[in-house]
Amino acid sequence: MHSHGVLMDRIYRRQRYFYDLTRKYYLVGRDRLIRDLDLRPGSSAVEVGCGTARNLIAIAGHYPGTRLFGLDVSLTMLETARRAVEHAGLSDRILLVHGYAEALVPELFGEKLPFDCAIFSYSLSMIPDWCSALEVANRALVPGGRLHMVDFGDFSGLGRFGALALRRWLRMFHVEPRTELLYALEGAIAGGLVGDLWVSPRRYAFAWSVPRCSTRAFANVAGQPQAAGNP
Ligand SMILES: C[S@@+](CC[C@H](N)C(=O)[O-])C[C@H]1O[C@@H](n2cnc3c(N)ncnc32)[C@H](O)[C@@H]1O
Repeated sequence: MHSHGVLMDRIYRRQRYFYDLTRKYYLVGRDRLIRDLDLRPGSSAVEVGCGTARNLIAIAGHYPGTRLFGLDVSLTMLETARRAVEHAGLSDRILLVHGYAEALVPELFGEKLPFDCAIFSYSLSMIPDWCSALEVANRALVPGGRLHMVDFGDFSGLGRFGALALRRWLRMFHVEPRTELLYALEGAIAGGLVGDLWVSPRRYAFAWSVPRCSTRAFANVAGQPQAAGNP
């Protein structure tokens, strides 16, 4: 696992300086996700793979009085995030911690209570064990809490060569669109699973939001066998 953090540091060592400027145009659906969060004052949200804290800072602006937490495995990204949070005057509302998505628990942030909301914004496509990360985040929510994600789709609306070229380019940055999740969700939602699924034009991106549910429901969606002993 340690090597994944080193890899992320290597990828973002230089990119972090122009990350927000460039990603503005191709990380589609992030602002839509933020608008849909519907957080009340006093509630808490954690972003898993928070990067430069661009989303957390926007969430703080949209939802006054919320307590926000960011987890990231890249120390260099977190350095940039800390600077941005300080610059925005939000150090008292946004707490950033270094750690792995797969090991998320509220205690990492010194919190005793679970979160009201967990967010994955273009991080699932970089988290090797994304299925465990989803399960762990689901478990870290209060009953009635909500999980939100947005990430790349299957690009099928871009044509065969467009999709192939984009996938190849993303792979250079160790980004792997989780198309198996998209297909499972399309099946599960058609089959009545509670949750909202949005697919962008040309199937470039998709977003899913779902209330905290049983671990079994997650295992089913992701097509993974359920780990023994889960509640
Ligand atoms: C593409 S960036 C997205 C950043 C931000 N969420 C956004 O929407 O702009 C993906 C982030 O996920 C982080 N990441 C990748 N694997 C991770 C893991 N296993 N645990 C925690 N963070 C991880 C990376 O370091 C990077 O900052």
